Amino acid sequence: MAEEIPMQRRSFFRSALALLLTTAAAMIAWGIARFSLFGVAKERLREVPADVVEKLQPGAPAHVPNAGAWLLRADNGKDILALDDRCPHLGCRPRWNEEAQIYQCPCHGSEFDRDGNPKRGPATRGMSKLGIDRIGEDRIVLREIAAK
Ligand code: FES
Repeated sequence: MAEEIPMQRRSFFRSALALLLTTAAAMIAWGIARFSLFGVAKERLREVPADVVEKLQPGAPAHVPNAGAWLLRADNGKDILALDDRCPHLGCRPRWNEEAQIYQCPCHGSEFDRDGNPKRGPATRGMSKLGIDRIGEDRIVLREIAAK
């Protein structure tokens, strides 16, 4: 009788270990499959209607939630800066504070200047800049720029 309990424990631990290893292997396989199948190819298409771009005023960022971006017309009136609207810390959505002229993240207090450069942490880098792929008749398309 005394020997049956250790055998049951051993069996339990073997089963628990097998379950743990199977789960870990499945998670790793899912991560690899997800990265290989969707990581590079599934880039989010971010379209912005041309009228939104036309209405941009220099120095006044406009949030385009559908595109997940902040757009800003430069002071020269021509160039347009596009920023990812997710905070580089943990992905919350910073808001533009017109009075302070900074983006403020509501989650942990990171702040960024008008060009998305970090002013205050915990974020250690600025908001990601987006490339402007095309300026068509009725829209522009934004794309993510790979981090260096
Ligand atoms: S998610 Fe923005 S500061 Fe943490």
